[in-house]
Amino acid sequence: MTAQTFRNEAAEAAVGNGRREANEFAIRPIEEKDLPGLEWDGVYLHFRRLFRQAYEDMRIGTRHLLMVEHTPTGGMVGQIFIQWSSSDPRFADGTRRGYLYALRIKPAFRCRGLGTRILAAAENELHRRGMDTASIGVEKDNPRARALYERLGYRVIAEDPGRWSYVDHEGNIREVLEPAWLMEKRIRGGHEED
Ligand SMILES: CC(C)(COP(=O)(O)OP(=O)(O)OC[C@H]1O[C@@H](n2cnc3c(N)ncnc32)[C@H](O)[C@@H]1OP(=O)(O)O)[C@@H](O)C(=O)NCCC(=O)NCCS
Repeated sequence: MTAQTFRNEAAEAAVGNGRREANEFAIRPIEEKDLPGLEWDGVYLHFRRLFRQAYEDMRIGTRHLLMVEHTPTGGMVGQIFIQWSSSDPRFADGTRRGYLYALRIKPAFRCRGLGTRILAAAENELHRRGMDTASIGVEKDNPRARALYERLGYRVIAEDPGRWSYVDHEGNIREVLEPAWLMEKRIRGGHEED
């Protein structure tokens, strides 16, 4: 059992015991030591290289990675990634619009406000950089997530074929097809031009 596995099991046990204080959770930037936690004990092992690359991008300032930490155990229970710019300006343009993705909360910790909290924290990061619009993609077969984003002020602006590829932990190229809605939200502040 890895240290991360132990911390995650301890975190889930704490929820099972009914200790559900909101202040048991903290949202903070991901550090190098947190990278194994992003793999969720193997569920996302195939994204290992993507996670490392995203972390390296954060170090040079082209991305930002946030996590929800279960503070009593240090275990990771959720995450969101932010991309400041993209080759497709509907997603992110480096100045006003940033793209939020890879939002996940571990199953045992869902439906208690953590997804909403980390999304708000990501919007705050965009605001701190002077951006005024957040975009997010949601798979077409995920109506509950879409409903959550609509409740939080996002609206659909485009369809995205969701075709992309990545190199997995064993060096194999994996093709992905995830048809999605692209949603956006104006966030407070940003560049005050209009
Ligand atoms: C979507 C997700 C991040 C929400 O996190 P959360 O902490 O449960 O969110 P909150 O507690 O702030 O809000 C609860 C709402 O989240 C949504 N939600 C809850 N569980 C969900 C699930 N398994 N899948 C999708 N949406 C879910 C629902 O809209 C829910 O409200 P409802 O109970 O009225 O239906 C989380 O459920 C998750 O990680 N789901 C799996 C991965 C995913 O779908 N990510 C989004 C990719 S676009």
